[in-house]
Amino acid sequence: KHPAGAPSPDLARKITKVGIVGAGLMASQFALLFVRKLRVPVVITDIDQERVDKGVAGIRASIDEMQEKGRISRDESNRLKALISGTTDLADFADADWVIEAVFEELGVKQEVFRNVEQVVSAECILATNTSSLSVTAIGSVLENPQRLLGFHFFNPVAVMPLVEVVNTAATDDETLSTAMVVAKTLGKNAVITADAPGFVVNRILAKLLGEAMHAVETGTPFEVVDRATAPFGLPMTPFELLELVGLKVGAHVLDTHHAAFPERFFESEGLHRLADYGKIFDRDAKGKRKGFDKKAVSLA
Ligand code: 3HC
Repeated sequence: KHPAGAPSPDLARKITKVGIVGAGLMASQFALLFVRKLRVPVVITDIDQERVDKGVAGIRASIDEMQEKGRISRDESNRLKALISGTTDLADFADADWVIEAVFEELGVKQEVFRNVEQVVSAECILATNTSSLSVTAIGSVLENPQRLLGFHFFNPVAVMPLVEVVNTAATDDETLSTAMVVAKTLGKNAVITADAPGFVVNRILAKLLGEAMHAVETGTPFEVVDRATAPFGLPMTPFELLELVGLKVGAHVLDTHHAAFPERFFESEGLHRLADYGKIFDRDAKGKRKGFDKKAVSLA
């Protein structure tokens, strides 16, 4: 097999329906992007009706907001809303050609999701995981057809960040890879094909930045100083703002997996785990604008 695969638009399968597992923040952003760009029905599912309803309501609210800002017409808003639905019954994925998951970042949970999805979808349906640092190969090890699984890793905020990492495992076949490249292009993203190695490309680099920032704090430099030192460095966000954006729990998990894979190169941060349990680093106003560092968070790091 060619290490980067041999994707070709001729091999790409047509996508007529998308299934999304998870109705949280990341999954809702995917749903909106898929419905806007692919213009096909998008069904989202989660473990209970309340989560599904909340996810669908959030997506509808985002569509309303785009209409209020004059970015889309009322007709377009209605069309998009009509294409979005929620379900707790995986059987509604039966005719999906593309299923992507953004559930809790734990191997067993993701394996269980795909094992269940595989029972209801056709053999041609492509399965994509948005995992940020688990092995896609390990996720696919429970599948009957692991050749139709790949990683499809978005960045936050999904609507704005232009990159998607398409993670090609040793099992992924060229039809799957080709379809993913065409889907990424239709979504308006730049896709890069990466190997299934810890952190792929971007998180490996980000883990270094975020881990070093936490380590600097944990070895005596105050939060404010690290924050002020990194902002003029040309970063759109400081490492601590970025940690809150991706989610402190996700950030801690990303550092843990890198430390486990490359202990000599990456720090693990107990302080970040305490911050993740606490839930924030910054004090923010009602609009979400940062006011300063949260005092308790500072004491926890
Ligand atoms: N959702 C949707 N759109 C958003 C948004 C959000 N959460 N935040 C900002 N935007 C949009 C705004 O609406 C605006 O769009 P417009 O130009 O059409 O009006 C545009 O983005 C720019 O926003 P602002 O002018 O308000 O703010 P900034 O210029 O400061 O940009 C930012 C905001 C794009 C978030 C910028 O700070 C940035 O690029 N930050 C770094 C983000 C990053 O590195 N993400 C990767 C995280 S790693 C990851 O996700 C992987 C995971 O596995 C860990």
